[in-house]
Amino acid sequence: MKIFPSILSSDFGDLRQEVLDVQKAGADGIHCDIMDGVFVPNLTFGPPVISRISKNIKVDIDCHLMVKDPDPLIKDFAFAGANMISVHVETCHHLQRTISHISSHGIKAGVALNPATPLSDIEWVLDDLDYILCMTVNPGFGGQKLIPAALEKAGELVRRLEARRKKLKAKKRPLVQIDGGINKATAKLARELGIDLIVAGSAIFGQKNYKKAIEELKGNK
Ligand code: DX5
Ligand code: ZN
Repeated sequence: MKIFPSILSSDFGDLRQEVLDVQKAGADGIHCDIMDGVFVPNLTFGPPVISRISKNIKVDIDCHLMVKDPDPLIKDFAFAGANMISVHVETCHHLQRTISHISSHGIKAGVALNPATPLSDIEWVLDDLDYILCMTVNPGFGGQKLIPAALEKAGELVRRLEARRKKLKAKKRPLVQIDGGINKATAKLARELGIDLIVAGSAIFGQKNYKKAIEELKGNK
């Protein structure tokens, strides 16, 4: 299971150093929450910040777009250094087109689902996806409590994708990422469900020792 610290909970006054520190501490990717104040009730940052923090970073830069209209922004985030971009299914009028647009930049394409959004919404785009982000809180803020039914849905998705992979005799399947309310206890549940990627903000940046926090989420301590 890979760990992606969410910089939403980092010290924005020292953002570049925070990113370098979590990379050194063993992060597998850097999760960047892009919020427009419309799709979610909070505002964060855009491509210039990504371009600044992605320089000399070796791990994946994962941009989670929580914006009402993601299409016009995809190119700018890709040029700024994002190598993973997820868009919310609830914001896309032509989902397959938007996913292809992300992939056309040679980066990994993801779709995010809110806790109340059914898995059937992505049923016909599975072949186009590199990863699926199941939100385990309602998006907008760090430090919220995980919604158990949303975690259960993510586990169900892993099972369905594995069954589909076997049926198709495929080597790969889209990865499943969860985001929101992850701590030591919920990370353990996620490991048991076979979740591939977990995003954690406050559980990492709220600790003094980032390496220890990441190891604990991976279940190594
Ligand atoms: C919430 C964001 C998350 C957030 C998670 O809308 O998408 O990435 O940073 O924060 P924690 O891990 O504190 O719940
Ligand atoms: Zn996120």
